[in-house]
Amino acid sequence: MPATGTRTVASGQERELSARAYIEAHRYRRHSNRVLHGHPSPLFWRNRDLSVPAIMAARAEALRDAPGRLNLYVATPYCLPTTPDRCGFCLFPSEVYQGRPQLDRYLGCLEREGEMYRPFVARTPLTSVYFGGGTSNLYRADQYARLLQLVRNLFPDLGGDTEVTLEGIPQLFTREKLDAMRTAGCTRVSIGVQQLDDEMIAMSGRKQKASQVFQTIAWCRDLGLAVSVDLIFGWPRQTVAGMLRDLDAVVGAGVDHLTHYELNVGGRTDFALNRSHELPSVEETLDMYRTARDFLAEKGYRQATTYDWERSTSGSPQLVYEEEWRRRFAAAPDGTVTRSQTWGWGFAGISHFLGGRADRGWTFMNHTRVADYFGALDAGLFPVERGFRYATEADFRLTVLFQMLISMVVDRSVYTAVTDVDVVDEFSEAWEVLAELGWIRVTSARLELVGDGVFYTPLIQSLLARERVQELRRSEFVRSG
Ligand SMILES: C[S@@+](CC[C@H](N)C(=O)[O-])C[C@H]1O[C@@H](n2cnc3c(N)ncnc32)[C@H](O)[C@@H]1O
Ligand code: SF4
Repeated sequence: MPATGTRTVASGQERELSARAYIEAHRYRRHSNRVLHGHPSPLFWRNRDLSVPAIMAARAEALRDAPGRLNLYVATPYCLPTTPDRCGFCLFPSEVYQGRPQLDRYLGCLEREGEMYRPFVARTPLTSVYFGGGTSNLYRADQYARLLQLVRNLFPDLGGDTEVTLEGIPQLFTREKLDAMRTAGCTRVSIGVQQLDDEMIAMSGRKQKASQVFQTIAWCRDLGLAVSVDLIFGWPRQTVAGMLRDLDAVVGAGVDHLTHYELNVGGRTDFALNRSHELPSVEETLDMYRTARDFLAEKGYRQATTYDWERSTSGSPQLVYEEEWRRRFAAAPDGTVTRSQTWGWGFAGISHFLGGRADRGWTFMNHTRVADYFGALDAGLFPVERGFRYATEADFRLTVLFQMLISMVVDRSVYTAVTDVDVVDEFSEAWEVLAELGWIRVTSARLELVGDGVFYTPLIQSLLARERVQELRRSEFVRSG
């Protein structure tokens, strides 16, 4: 605590300047991790000895005080081969698809993992299910019944109101498959379109055609399946006009929900190694973001997160899975704060079991090599690769805040109920600078991202977490040294 008023001002200015200096140093630099759903980055998830039964026992204890909702993510590891590898840009773990026997074996392993979780999750009502990947529409039409049955074996009440989404690539949807998905219990399809321009599709080695996207949308509509589309902007050589053509086509096809991510270029991908020079600058990408935002708003879409857009007049179901991701903690109408958890089932599945005051909980990830995933199950072990325990209040508060920032709004009373801290006091210097830039707005009830602040969410997150991330780096260095 500073001893004099003069020192308070001086150190306050210093910190303010340093927050400003941090922003100025980074705002024109490309961020290699655009979408941060939580804190810390998986790079720091180094705990390899975690006990799933112990985590689940602590979860059961915490749920006795404050009930929570459970969401399920089910992964499929495989993808069609592409040249360049992994579509040239993808940073998600996956392995090359060679044929149906891989999928049959994988379904058997999923079943075994499911049985290991049975004592902890069975009969809990599920709020939403998401089949992601990899590529979840690689299965043949006859395999969807088995895939959904695996879920029903543990959650027999699945159906009714539960949103069940299956994600896939355009060229693998057929009417027969979509019908089989619907009959098996899927309610929504998410199409990974990414972009519609032939030259850029060729750049990523994906063999999809725009016509397959629109045909899939039409089939979904015929079959009564809700449909979402994933688009990415900021491609090598992409122009604002090209981006708008894609958006206009998807909006014109009547899609009620779309994600519009900025391309994340990193790792040892072809784009990072060979196409960096063709990428739009950060200023050009910001221009794309602003243009897309204004275009979608004009077409009647509401921005639900930094990258999700939904048609406000739509009568289609709420996006439950996405909502649950971005509102891990929310106030119920009676004022109590409810919590949402996710079990990531299968290859590279990520689980979030954030806890209560006694134990802040864990996030952990399953094996990201199929051989390791199979090997663990063959040995009768939970197939967990590594995880992170929220042992400190600082890490817990940052992860809660990061998730709220994705939805662009921090409800101050919910944040305080969960962390015992007022978010506005907590990072006051950063908020002051961000408010001056016009990137946030603070009221007595909320702290909101506004204007270009939405585009700069990853920068804001790294600003808020930078001291803690430095500490984590130092402690890793000490451990490994
Ligand atoms: C795990 S991917 C799988 C989707 C599906 N296999 C496909 O390729 O369409 C899920 C979503 O993450 C987004 N995504 C993947 N890689 C990305 C990247 N490098 N930058 C931005 N978004 C990315 C895409 O919008 C994609 O639809
Ligand atoms: S973008 Fe989709 S299809 Fe391509 S490698 Fe990634 S997960 Fe697989």
